[in-house]
Amino acid sequence: MTSSTTGTPPASAEIALSEFFDGHPVPTFAIDTAHVVTHWNRACEHLLGHSKEAMIGTDNHWQAFYGHRRPLLADLIVAGLDNELDMHYQKKWWASTLIPGACEAEDFFPLIGASGLWLHFTAAPLRDALGNIVGAIETIRDVSKRKEAETALRLVNDNLEVVVERRTAQLADINEKLQADIVRRHLAEADLQRSNLELAALNEQLSRAQQQLVQSDKLASIGQLAAGVAHEINNPIGYIFSNFTTLQGYLDQLFAMFDAYEGAEAQIGATDVAAALRDLRKRIDLDFLREDIPSLMAESREGIVRVRHIVQDLKDFSRVDTDQKWVWANLHQGIDSTLNIVGNEIKYRATVVKEYGNIPDIECLPLQINQVVMNLVVNAAHAVGERHGRISVRTGCDGDDGVWIEIADNGSGIPADILSRIFDPFFTTKPVGKGTGLGLSLSYGIVQRHGGRIEVNTTPGEGTCFRVHLPVHQPRIVT
Ligand SMILES: Nc1ncnc2c1ncn2[C@@H]1O[C@H](COP(=O)(O)OP(=O)(O)OP(=O)(O)O)[C@@H](O)[C@H]1O
Ligand SMILES: [Mg+2]
Repeated sequence: MTSSTTGTPPASAEIALSEFFDGHPVPTFAIDTAHVVTHWNRACEHLLGHSKEAMIGTDNHWQAFYGHRRPLLADLIVAGLDNELDMHYQKKWWASTLIPGACEAEDFFPLIGASGLWLHFTAAPLRDALGNIVGAIETIRDVSKRKEAETALRLVNDNLEVVVERRTAQLADINEKLQADIVRRHLAEADLQRSNLELAALNEQLSRAQQQLVQSDKLASIGQLAAGVAHEINNPIGYIFSNFTTLQGYLDQLFAMFDAYEGAEAQIGATDVAAALRDLRKRIDLDFLREDIPSLMAESREGIVRVRHIVQDLKDFSRVDTDQKWVWANLHQGIDSTLNIVGNEIKYRATVVKEYGNIPDIECLPLQINQVVMNLVVNAAHAVGERHGRISVRTGCDGDDGVWIEIADNGSGIPADILSRIFDPFFTTKPVGKGTGLGLSLSYGIVQRHGGRIEVNTTPGEGTCFRVHLPVHQPRIVT
C-alpha cells in the first residue's frame, strides 16, 4: 500500500512502517485489491529467492511458489473468494483462531530451495478505517525442520509400532508355544501317572504271582511226598482196618468161649485143676480184661479212622483221586450243604450269618470247593474259642468273570509272625491230635487249581476274613 492509494499516513510514519516491514525477520508480503504486490520484505527475498524489485508492482508473487499462475491465500482473501479455499488448498488450510477473517495453510513446495521447503502461511485482510478490505498481508514461515522432526518422529513411531507389533506377535507366538508346552507337559504328566499306576499294579501282580509260585513250589514238593506217603500207608491201613473188624469178631467169639468155660468150671471135679484155673483167672484179672479190651479196641479203631482220614487228606492234597468232574455249579447250594454238615461242630461255638450276593453258576469241582468252605468255616469256628462268636459267609461278583466267597469271623485273628506260614502244609497252632495243619494248604491247592486265589485280612484280637476269588469260566480244564 502506498500513500497514493491511502493518501493519509505522513511520510515519516510510512517510511518507519516500510522499514519495520522490511526489517521484520518473518518473511512477509502484501498485495492490494488488484492483486499487485505492494510489499515484499527482505526476509521474503531471502527465503524465496525473489527480489523485492522483481515483485513489487506486479502480480507475479505466485512465481515464488508455483510453476503456474494460481491464486495464493492473500489473493483469495482480497477477492472475497473464501469459498474457493477448499478448491485451491484442499485440506491444507484452516481458519485462524487468532485473527477474524484470516486463514492459515501449510504445504510442501518442491521448487523452493535446493530440495523444496515446507512452508506455513498466515494471510489476513488489510482494511481501511471503514472496514473495507484494501489488501491482504501474508506471512511465511519455513517449517521444514519441524516437518522433518515430525516425519522423523512419525517414522520412529511407525517403527516403534512395527517393533511393538512384531514383538506382540512374537510374544503371542511364544505364549502359544508355552500353552502348547504346558498342555504337552500336563499330558505327559498324566501319562506318567498312568504308567506309574500301571507299574504299581503290575508290581502288585508280580509279587502276588511270586508268592503263589513259592507257595505252589512248596505244595508241589510236599504233594509228591504226600502222594508217596499216602500210597505207602494206604494199603497197610486198609488191611489193618479190615483185620480190626475181623479181630473184633474173633474177640467176641473168644469171650463167648470164656463165658462157656467159666460156666463149666463148677463141673470140674479135680480140685487142683479148679484151683489152678481160679488162680490163673485171678492173676490175669479176666474181669478187667473183659472190660478193658473192648475200650482198647474202640480207641484203636478211632485212631485207625483218624489215620485213614489223614491219608485221605494227603491223597486229596496230592490229587491222587482225580475222578471228580468239572461242572457248572451253584456255589450257594454247595455252601449250604457244607454248613449243614459242619453245623454240629460249630453250632455251640458261633452263629453263622449268610449274606449271599447275586452270583452266577461257575465251572468248578463242587466237592473240592465245598471242602475249601468247610476248612475255612471250621477254622473260623476254632478261632472264636470258648465264647460264642459270629461267622459271616458272604458271596459276591468280581466283575463279569469272577465270583468271591468270604468267610469272616470275630475270633482271635492271626498274629503277624505266623501269617506267612498258615498255608504251609502241616503248619498248625492247634494241640497235637487236634489239627493236621493241612486244611489251608489243601484249600490253597484247590483254589489254585481253579485258577483262583485266596486273600486273608486279619486283625489280631478282632478277627479274620478269608476271601476266595474264583473265575466263572475255566480256560483249560486241569485234571
Ligand atoms: N480263621 C482263623 N483265625 C485264626 N487263625 C486261623 C484261622 N484259620 C487258620 N488259622 C491258623 O492257621 C493254622 C493253619 O490252619 P489249617 O486249617 O491249615 O490247619 P489247622 O486248622 O490247624 O488244622 P486242620 O488240618 O485240622 O485244618 C491254624 O492252626 C491257625 O493257627
Ligand atoms: Mg483247619
